[in-house]
Amino acid sequence: MAPYIGTATSRVDGVAKVTGAAKYAAEFNVPGLLYGSVATSTIAKGRITRMDRSAALRVKGVVDVLTHENRPYMADNDQAYKDETAPLGAPFRPLYDNKIWFNGQPIALVVAETSEVARFAASLLRVEYEREAHVTDVYRQRDSASPVREPTSPIEALFAPPKPRGAPEQALTAAAVRHEAEYYVPIEHHNPMELYASTVIFEGNGKLTVYDKTQGVQNVQQYLCGVFGMKPDDVRVMSPFMGGGFGSGLRPQFQVVLAVLAARALQRSVRVVLTRPQMYVIGYRPAMIQRIALGANAGGTLDAITHDAVTVTSQYEEFYRQETGWSGLLYGCANARYAHKLTQLDLATSCDMRAPSAATAVYALESAMDELAVALKLDPLELRLRCYSDRDQHEDRPFSSKALRDCYRQGAEAFGWDKRSLAPRSQRDGSDLVGWGMATGIWEALQIPITVRIVLTANGHAEVACATSDIGTGTYTVMTQVAADMLGLPLSNITIKLGDSSLPQSPVEGGSWIATSVANGIATTADAIRGELLRLAKQIPTSPLANANPDDVALADGKLVNRRDGSRAVSIADAMRHGAVDRIELERTNSPDHDASRAHNTHAAIFAEVKVDEQLGVIRVTRVVSAVAAGRIMNPKTASSQILGSVVWGIGMALHEETLIDHTFGRIINANIAEYHVPVNADVQDIKVIFVDEPDDSNRLGMKGLGEIGIVGVAAAITNAVYHATGKRVRDLPITLDKLQR
Ligand code: MOS
Repeated sequence: MAPYIGTATSRVDGVAKVTGAAKYAAEFNVPGLLYGSVATSTIAKGRITRMDRSAALRVKGVVDVLTHENRPYMADNDQAYKDETAPLGAPFRPLYDNKIWFNGQPIALVVAETSEVARFAASLLRVEYEREAHVTDVYRQRDSASPVREPTSPIEALFAPPKPRGAPEQALTAAAVRHEAEYYVPIEHHNPMELYASTVIFEGNGKLTVYDKTQGVQNVQQYLCGVFGMKPDDVRVMSPFMGGGFGSGLRPQFQVVLAVLAARALQRSVRVVLTRPQMYVIGYRPAMIQRIALGANAGGTLDAITHDAVTVTSQYEEFYRQETGWSGLLYGCANARYAHKLTQLDLATSCDMRAPSAATAVYALESAMDELAVALKLDPLELRLRCYSDRDQHEDRPFSSKALRDCYRQGAEAFGWDKRSLAPRSQRDGSDLVGWGMATGIWEALQIPITVRIVLTANGHAEVACATSDIGTGTYTVMTQVAADMLGLPLSNITIKLGDSSLPQSPVEGGSWIATSVANGIATTADAIRGELLRLAKQIPTSPLANANPDDVALADGKLVNRRDGSRAVSIADAMRHGAVDRIELERTNSPDHDASRAHNTHAAIFAEVKVDEQLGVIRVTRVVSAVAAGRIMNPKTASSQILGSVVWGIGMALHEETLIDHTFGRIINANIAEYHVPVNADVQDIKVIFVDEPDDSNRLGMKGLGEIGIVGVAAAITNAVYHATGKRVRDLPITLDKLQR
């Protein structure tokens, strides 16, 4: 039997998804379900002084209107609201009191027999406010931004700027060639297709089953227990499918609190679905101002890097990631300094969005590197190769593997990079200016503890269970492939159970760590299953495996087989029959050793071609080649889809995406996917994905994960191509045609 791992495999949940059999959080129905509609504040900062619910309550079909004044019990301490991924600070508490922290904040939940009635009645609430002056403009606040805190825990240390090296200011002054500039990335939004939604089923015994749109069912369960003082047995959180997450579902969002609040108040089942505009209020990629200075010697190697970042968070929490240090992982440079400041605005807390910190910081770094190449009159790829580093300079350690050179070589070859002319505005296609740009991508390869249960039955079927989530990335499929190979069964004999808080422990799906963690977890539990089968097989009189050790045997084709002598085998059915068992159920936790002696990263090289209409300034991304080094590729089909999607998102980041705030009101004004521009089919042309071979021994399966690496560097490759096409450097995203014509 050929291995499934490494073979292009269609999604095992594909048919369920396209036929509608796969149910999402807002699609679970029970008789008597109530619908909640969220009313939101129209001011950005201040207090609610009066709320008149009477008109809303008079509407036929309205059951209740919950506000901070009449809501049932909620915890009164910050710790209770801290979820697994909460940043420093005091988490937002929906409907807790009369204080307004941001425009669009939930201030009431109208609960009715139908969603239409709830929504109409919500429009009848009369609210009076006492306003305070607000600020939502990062540029107005940048001078009062404060440095992120000195880390007090290992987690905080991960997000703080790295330590400085050498004497960067002196090295900059002494450098033969210098480049210094400021780069801006605006607030952006995840915009998953599926709306934030929670359906709370009020079970007869007072227990709750919560279908929630989340990347972490156990995270939401623990959070709800904290907020409402419930016991874990009283609330089960389910998220079998998810219509896109990208980080937006890492933290419990307020609709789940409101739905549970209403279910508890009314002793009924309740669904709350946010509208698209309401989704814009919570969770966004923080705007980022970055100043980068690079100093190089005439030979084109780096002497100095300084990187100063300012990012955005709320008034009540301090969300930030390690924005500034990616250069120290990517490029050799003896002198470096990093600084990160935070501005607190009257907005909701910013949050993780695909490749948080790298997507934005590497855009700036790789733009600056392109500008340095121009100053050095050097091919941009050649500059990267001269600055290539085989060590993580922050910690002075090697990489577990780094096949970035192969990415550069194979990507450049597939793109035809060697035919690029050095000068900008030197390539044309009719009335279009043609530009070629490139950039590097980098992300982390993480693995964290996870628990997997396998139930193997005598008929050769296995159920593999873990509380992890498949946020659309293909986790069901990769889990199926790994289980099939490890248990020696066909794909169709494997059933995956996930997205259920009652299943064995899993962290949130994020950081590109789940595929690696759960796959190695399956391998560990499958070992235990094999050991148990061998124990049973040895009990068979004159067993062909009588003297075998667990390492001597493998599971293949439904049998336990001696690895050296395939004729010595016992079928799963025979082993279990002789042992008088019809099922083997085992659960194991896989806790990876933390290997701090080496850096663990994925890499990519992205090459982009743009065509720019010289008269109109319209930019088309006509070709992209993304060459990725991410360890062993489990499923080339779903893996390519991950990278393709990321490249499309990179096109959006470079040319389209921008959340706009009317600072007079502190309100997001393009809170819909018509006016928040994302790439459409016509914006997506030829994209080629290459996976380079990258053996890695950091974990048994040689995996690294690739949920996020695909977007890192894409925007810079495109904007560098725009410069090459036009000779005009635009340093604030997105590059809309007005900026090009300015
Ligand atoms: Mo990802 S931003 O960790 O969901």
